[in-house]
Amino acid sequence: MEVERVQCLASGQLKELPAKFIRPAHERPENTKAVEGETVPVISLSLPHDLLVKQVAEAASEWGILLLTDHGISPTLIARLQELGQQFFNLPQKEKEVYANDPSTGRFEGYGTRMAKNLDEKVEWIDYYFHMMSPSSKVNYDMWPKNPASYREVTEEYNKEVLKLTDTVLGLLSEGLGLERKALKSSLGDDEKIETEMKINMYPPCPQPELALGVEPHTDMSALTVLVPNDVPGLQVWRQDHWVAVDFLQNTLLVHIGDQLEVLSNGKCRSVLHRSLVDKERMRMSWAVFVAPPHEAVIGPLPVLVNQENPPKYSTKTFAEFRHRKFNKLPQ
Ligand code: SIN
Ligand code: FE2
Repeated sequence: MEVERVQCLASGQLKELPAKFIRPAHERPENTKAVEGETVPVISLSLPHDLLVKQVAEAASEWGILLLTDHGISPTLIARLQELGQQFFNLPQKEKEVYANDPSTGRFEGYGTRMAKNLDEKVEWIDYYFHMMSPSSKVNYDMWPKNPASYREVTEEYNKEVLKLTDTVLGLLSEGLGLERKALKSSLGDDEKIETEMKINMYPPCPQPELALGVEPHTDMSALTVLVPNDVPGLQVWRQDHWVAVDFLQNTLLVHIGDQLEVLSNGKCRSVLHRSLVDKERMRMSWAVFVAPPHEAVIGPLPVLVNQENPPKYSTKTFAEFRHRKFNKLPQ
């Protein structure tokens, strides 16, 4: 079936937002504005080790998200990655459709746009490209864009860097929980097993951004998500009882704590609720790498973090089971 792409809609000089994108009043950005004066913690990886552990642990428990500077990934590599994503979305529509996904048949990888399942359902103002990135034994490279030609080389390079960074961040979080450096990583499945996925989010300019959402409020199912946005703001995170806008800062990476780390840490790390807004004039893009355990991994609160006073707050189950429940909105 032909899918109506948001990018195509947006390029048609729309004056008004079609009904399926108009959120109910209580969800609209115009009625749920972010507060002023609060900012997500910005942490430099070059801080002295003990201070770094402390700051990362605090950010993970109080916010569930942090902005990392001095992260070691070259700005040139990030710029190349971003250019490739833009080039892909600038391809003629027919060329992009070759990669169309079909979630209704379980084909999640490829070029996608959410479709409403019924007349009342609202959809998000976004097109995306999603594919598995590693381990290479599980990747179907046919699902990666062939054009631009350097897509694979640059994306693989970026993946390597993100894996290195993940190792560092998981080490810091483990130490922050009073555990040895390897604790979280080995629960997720070490280097050959840990899985990464790429999602390129593309939010075209929107005629009435105050009525729409780019992405609905959600927490990520992953352990960690490493995200780079372009320079158009839009990401917001929920803190206590209000939204906080995440400012764009040059050369920083965003690290979200996802559901699997919340479970492993028995709630000490918080999976951050977040959403994204869209812009009237400019296209917003972001590149999210989800770092997750393999489907068969069994994830539950780490036994060393649980005792009589701190009983487990989450049940233990395979990541496959967790995904199934989350996709089908079943209790965990
Ligand atoms: C998402 O969390 O799904 C999107 C985040 C973003 O675009 O900043
Ligand atoms: Fe997300």
